[in-house]
Amino acid sequence: MYLFKRVADLREALGQEKKAGKRIGFAPTMGALHQGHISLIESAGKDCDIVVASIFVNPTQFNDPKDFEKYPSTLQEDILLLTAAGVNYLFLPSVAEMYPEGPGAQHIHYDFGYIESVLEGAYRPNHFQGVGIIVDKLLKAVQPDDLYMGQKDFQQCMIIKRLLEITGSPARLHICPTLREADGLAMSSRNMRLTPEQRSQAVEISRTLQWVKDNLSSRPFPGLREEGLSRLAAAGFIPDYLALASAEDLRLLEAPETGPMAILVAAKLGDIRLIDNMTVGL
Ligand code: PAF
Repeated sequence: MYLFKRVADLREALGQEKKAGKRIGFAPTMGALHQGHISLIESAGKDCDIVVASIFVNPTQFNDPKDFEKYPSTLQEDILLLTAAGVNYLFLPSVAEMYPEGPGAQHIHYDFGYIESVLEGAYRPNHFQGVGIIVDKLLKAVQPDDLYMGQKDFQQCMIIKRLLEITGSPARLHICPTLREADGLAMSSRNMRLTPEQRSQAVEISRTLQWVKDNLSSRPFPGLREEGLSRLAAAGFIPDYLALASAEDLRLLEAPETGPMAILVAAKLGDIRLIDNMTVGL
């Protein structure tokens, strides 16, 4: 695995691969890798000749500075995992490399429209602008044919789809299924910060989603939402939302519809905010 820290050097090396006709797959990450990330790498490896991963904890997408400071970092283990998974190029830039004028000096604004205004967008102001800025920069550096992202960040995937349209990027977006621990907890880098007690409480988030999903056709959604939020609170969470939405455009729903839907949740355990979702009919 080659490791690059500068955009210019990475572009040069990947430019040579492209010239040789190689298909390039890319999985952007913020490190603290788990099996969910590795599944993105494996999908890229199946489709593409060259697999590129990036590790960059992007300051502009953290609306809470404490969350940024406490974001887990396991670089040595990450490098071993990526090497074993068959990554060809790892991009590991500094903040100065990605934001030469400083992360505070961003003047770009993407028109993500409605999808940026609800759920994560409402609870994390400017989060998706920060995601858009960095993913756009990374795409310009890597210029992949295929881009791999996890369904666990359902709304982020919709934002990236829109970003590709806005920027005219030719990369094809592949949304890979959420991987779960044996008890159902969605794999997430933030899980590393849970205390053993919080870890056992955390399972309630996927249990609640599954319970809503199982009861969606037999009980009105508003009652399920209310009871679901109470279940989360009883397990020690402070929930932000439990929502039903169209999986196509994230329109919030009060009752199931015939098209594909997503049930989405965000809730805090102490200062650790977890999100998860399950789809219906997708
Ligand atoms: O999902 C993530 O880890 C990040 O939001 C991403 C896409 C790597 C951008 O920083």
